[in-house]
Formats: sequence, structure tokens, C-alpha cells
Amino acid sequence: MNADIRVVTDGAALAQAAAALIVAAVAQQASRFSLVLSGGSTPNAVYQLLAQPPVRASLPWERIHLFWGDERYVPADHPESNFRMAREALIDHVPIPASNVHRINTDLPADEAAAVYQQELHRFFTEQGSDIPQFDLVLLGLGEDGHTASLFPNTAALEEAERWVVANDVPQLSTTRLTLTFPVINQAKQVAFLVGGEAKAAMVAQVLGNQHEGAPLPSQRVQPGSGQLIWLLDQGAASLLRDQGEV
Ligand code: 6PG
Repeated sequence: MNADIRVVTDGAALAQAAAALIVAAVAQQASRFSLVLSGGSTPNAVYQLLAQPPVRASLPWERIHLFWGDERYVPADHPESNFRMAREALIDHVPIPASNVHRINTDLPADEAAAVYQQELHRFFTEQGSDIPQFDLVLLGLGEDGHTASLFPNTAALEEAERWVVANDVPQLSTTRLTLTFPVINQAKQVAFLVGGEAKAAMVAQVLGNQHEGAPLPSQRVQPGSGQLIWLLDQGAASLLRDQGEV
């Protein structure tokens, strides 16, 4: 796996490194910047840093567009909503235009929500003269089962080769999730995994240490074609890699 693996000391350093990565990526271009947010708990501290001085004032919020890599199929104000997490940690505290916040509309039936979101992506990228959905930066997390976004092992979304967004039944969670698919994630200019804590060390070693046998894990299938793949890890998450000298 051709990845740029960066290890920092702890969770706080991980959040700082991720915020710095976002600031640097935004500064690399003068036009609209499309940032795909990941869900779960890890990125919360990152979003809070973006919403506080000094970072808050340094970002050109008027040209930053927020998208979601996946969403739980719950209302926007539900405690499990990835949108709600980002709204509380970031969106409510920065001067980003409402039209720049591209929420996955989970008020619709799941398949329709996916189709409508794909139409929104298509409209966004068409406006900038592109017929391919090339996000500037996609943030991803890693589950202990090797999932990322809502691309869980043994689920149908893993095999989606055409659509950019699907409703994915996840039997292991007895739920439906909405998720970007590999075709669109792997188009991105930059993809950054943010992974912290010893609980993830075994999976990080499988994904990055090529220790995994059999079919690739979902996270191993994130291979941006022409984009940069970055793994931001804290020492806990990297601890089994370090033992093998991979970092
Ligand atoms: C979600 C995420 C999911 C997450 C991983 C890691 O909706 O939960 O998109 O892919 O990134 O499960 O979650 P933690 O950061 O909570 O460990």
C-alpha cells in the first residue's frame, strides 16, 4: 500500500495534525474546497479545533464546502447523526454559508437519500466543470473490523462500481447506512485516515502491515488512483506497526 504514514504521540496531537493537514490542503488552492467529513468519535476533536482560534479565523469558510463520507440513517438531530456531531463541534461555530453544508438528507427513504445526494454531488462538480466527483480531501476513520465510512465487511456497498452514494444494509449492526463508495473515494486528490488508540492497533497492523490474508479489508481498498493517501496515527494505533518497523 503506497501510503504516507504519519505517527504522532496521542489523541490531542492527532487532532492537531489533522487540523493542520486540512488547513494546508485548503491553502493549496484558491477555488472552492470540497472537504468530506468522517463520522464516529475520532474526528470530533478535529472539528472542534477548526472552530476555535487560531484556526477558525485562518480558514476561508466562504469557499469551503462540507460533505459527509457516510451517515447513519437517523434524523439530523439524532444523537448518532454524523451531521449533528459536525454541526455541534464545527458548523454552529464558524461563518460557513448554509449552502456550503451538504448534508445527506436522511429524512428521505434511504435509497432516495442516496440518489438525491449523488445528484447534489453531480451538480457541485458540474458547476466547476468536472464530470467526475474529485473531492479535494476525504477524511476517513477505521473501524476495528476494518470498515471505513460505512463500507463494512461483507456488505453490498463494497461491490458498487458505478454509483457514488448508496444505502448500505449493515446486518452486523442491524441498520442501514448511507455511504460514499470506492469509485468516488478513490477519485479524491487526498484521502486521510485518522486513527487513534491502542484498540485500533491490531487492525492498523492488518491494513498497513499487509498482515491480512484473504480478500482485502474495506480500508485496504481505499487506494486513490492519482491522489495522496495519508494515514495519521497516534502511537497507540501505530504500536503494532512500530514493533514491526513499518514506521
Ligand atoms: C461512522 C464512521 C465510521 C468511523 C469508524 C471509526 O459513521 O461511524 O464513518 O467509519 O469512522 O467506525 O469510528 P471511531 O472514530 O468512533 O472509532
